[in-house]
Parts: sequence; structure tokens; C-alpha cells
Amino acid sequence: MTSRRLLTPAELKPLLRLAPFELDGTRRRLAGAYTVGDLRAIARRRTPRSVFDYVDGSAESEVSIRRARRVLRDLTFHPSVLHDVSTVDTSTTMLGTRTDLPYVFSPTGFTRMMHHSGEVAVARSAQRAGVPYTLSTMGTTGIEDLAAAAPDGHNWFGFYVWKDRASSEEILSRVAASGYEALVLTVDVPVGGARLRDNRNGFSIPPRLSLKTIADGAMHPNWWIDFLTTEPLRFASFDSWNDTIEALANHMFDPSVQLEDLAWVRQFWKGPLVVKGIQTVDDARRVADAGADGVVLSNHGGRQLDRAPVPLTLVPATVAAVGDRCEVFVDTGFSSGADIVAALALGATGVLLGRAYLYALMAGGELGVDRLNEILAGQIARTLRLLGVHAVDELTPEHVTLP
Ligand SMILES: Cc1cc2nc3c(=O)[nH]c(=O)nc-3n(C[C@H](O)[C@H](O)[C@H](O)COP(=O)(O)O)c2cc1C
Repeated sequence: MTSRRLLTPAELKPLLRLAPFELDGTRRRLAGAYTVGDLRAIARRRTPRSVFDYVDGSAESEVSIRRARRVLRDLTFHPSVLHDVSTVDTSTTMLGTRTDLPYVFSPTGFTRMMHHSGEVAVARSAQRAGVPYTLSTMGTTGIEDLAAAAPDGHNWFGFYVWKDRASSEEILSRVAASGYEALVLTVDVPVGGARLRDNRNGFSIPPRLSLKTIADGAMHPNWWIDFLTTEPLRFASFDSWNDTIEALANHMFDPSVQLEDLAWVRQFWKGPLVVKGIQTVDDARRVADAGADGVVLSNHGGRQLDRAPVPLTLVPATVAAVGDRCEVFVDTGFSSGADIVAALALGATGVLLGRAYLYALMAGGELGVDRLNEILAGQIARTLRLLGVHAVDELTPEHVTLP
């Protein structure tokens, strides 16, 4: 029989570890987040439903993104033990530049809608973490303003070719003059994908003030106060819009863009050129032959063609086909450091992240993105050590099998 007695105060004292109470609510919330999923849960609570769904959602039946996440969940790591992993190096080289971590923040449109601090917050946090940030043509911060806000950052530019070629040329010239390190040409939006959550939510850009949105204000007061008391939301590179993203893409983007247009882009952009939205090995070969320095295997986070190939599964064959002359990046569905390590082991140069940093931004602005970088850096370092390697370039395809 167990004999019971209360612990004496002297025995209790060493057990009592009262952490000082964090008065700043944002810091307190973020300190309790340990995964991208935790940041997403905070983002969901703090952002109007239609804005959260615009980020979280995909196209049609959302099969592409579910499949991509399933492959990441079901892959298998193969560790090797008894290696000295007391030090670990998470840095790598992308497009000839050293980065502290092996991922890139992907271009996303209208980022000030997710949080009023928008693109500048993400770029500053990326600069601190030593990872590239890609400003979108659909951004809400100007090309020069972003470069000035993160002057020491690895700033890349995400470019869509517009029907208005003269404006497209002007944008490219400004990007080059502002010192951006790379151009990411997105080629998977000949028309906008069918984002059904947006249609069902009556979502428009910018959000309309209606009875529904005013009622939502009561549920998400901080977001609405920020929205109504900071610089009005507008696209930085063209006149504002008042309809859905799908309609905007159909209005602005040039569906006649073809391979030959890479040469046109090259006239105005001499730096590294990465083509984003490649979904077959054959297309990777075509753009590599046309002079691209990199490809991003991507289905746009499942936001364009539904039931598209899972980009991660294309990595090994694409690296085999073009890896000698072109860097292979990948995105769609990545939500942890271990996911990123798996892609690198299969031969990718780096991973692009979209929603992960948008959830972080919605959860806590610039501090939220800092927390994401901290979480990912920890996960990447830990996964490398557990696999038995102490640097990114020691990863090999033997470390991972796809399901
Ligand atoms: C809200 C949102 C806006 C996006 N806007 C752009 C864009 O302007 N240009 C672009 O090339 N890709 C855009 N994307 C796609 C991302 O760059 C990236 O390919 C995708 O988010 C990767 O998948 P993930 O969100 O699962 O990481 C956007 C994605 C999201 C979620």
C-alpha cells in the first residue's frame, strides 16, 4: 500500500517555476506556437473568415493541395546513426548566393490584407533570418519601397507578364534598378483558378464593407481596426481593383505568353531567372534549354489546376534531367523543417513557402514571421542531426523514400 503525505514547503519550492507573465498578447500567443499548424490556428482566430479562406483555400475541390500534403506526411526518412552531429550547418547556396536557411518566401499577392504590416514585415523578418523574400507583382508594397525596407535582404521579385507589355517592361526595369537578386517568372496562371471558397464567401479585393463584414468586425476587432486606420489597401504596381482575384487574373495576365517570351524577359532582366509553375520534366527541360537558371516545380499551392501532379514527386526526375544546368526548387504543401529537408535530400536546391509565412503574418505580424523562422530553423537543424548529417549538402536521396 502506498503511504501518502503532503510534500513539505521545502520539497515543493524547487518544483515551483513560475515564468514571468508576458504582458504583450502577441508575444504570449506566439510563444505558445511550436508548429506551422499552431500559427495557422492563431491566424484563423484573428483574421476575418473570408481573408483566412483566401489564404488557406485552393482551387476547385482542393485535391491538389491535399495530395501534396499527403505525400509529405507519408514519406519515410532513413537515418544513419553514430555520426558526430554536435555542430550542424543549415546554410546553403541558391542561385550563387549563400542563404542561412534552405527556403525562400514565395511571392503572394495582396499581403497587406493578411496583416497591415504586409510585405515589409515579411521581408524584414526574412532579412534577419538570412532567407530570400519574393515580392509579387500583385503586392501591396512598391518595388522601391520594399527594397528600401530590407536593403540587406535577399530580395527576389515574382513577375507575371501582363497583357500590357509596356507596363511589364517598366516593372522589369524598376526591379533591376532596385537591386533585386533574382526574378521569378510565374507561368501557371494563363487564367485564374476557380477559388470556390472566395466565391462562396463573396470575397473581393479589397474586402467590401457589407453587413456581413461589419458583423465580422465584432469577432475580429484588431484586424478591422488595423484595416480602417492604416494606409488603404491597394496594389502597388497598378490601379486598384474591386472584384475577385480570379477576375483580376483574367483581366490582367497575358494568356498568350509562350516559351519565346523568355527571350523578351531577358532583354530587361539580366540576373538569375527562375521559372515558377513547372509541372512536367519535359517543361523543365524546355525552359532550361531556353536559358532559365532555375525552375520551381509548383502547382501554385493547389490554387490553379486541380488534380495536378504533386511537385515533390517530380524532383528526382527533374534534377536528373536539368540539374546540371538549372537549379530545381519546389513548393506546395510544405509546412515544416522536416518537409524541407526531405525535398533537399531528393535533390532540390531549396523550397518555396507560401501559406506558412502568411499564417505566421496573420498570427502576429513581423513577430509572427520571426517565430516561424525560429520554428523552421529548429526543425531543420534537428532533422539534419537525427538523420545523421551535419550540413545540408550531405543529404542524399538515400535519406528519403516517397510513398
Ligand atoms: C494567398 C496567396 C497568394 C499567392 N499569390 C501569388 C502570386 O502573386 N504570385 C505567384 O507566383 N504565386 C502566388 N501564390 C502561390 C505561392 O507563391 C506558392 O506557389 C504557393 O503558396 C506554395 O504552396 P504553399 O502555400 O502550400 O506553400 C500565392 C499563394 C497564396 C496562398
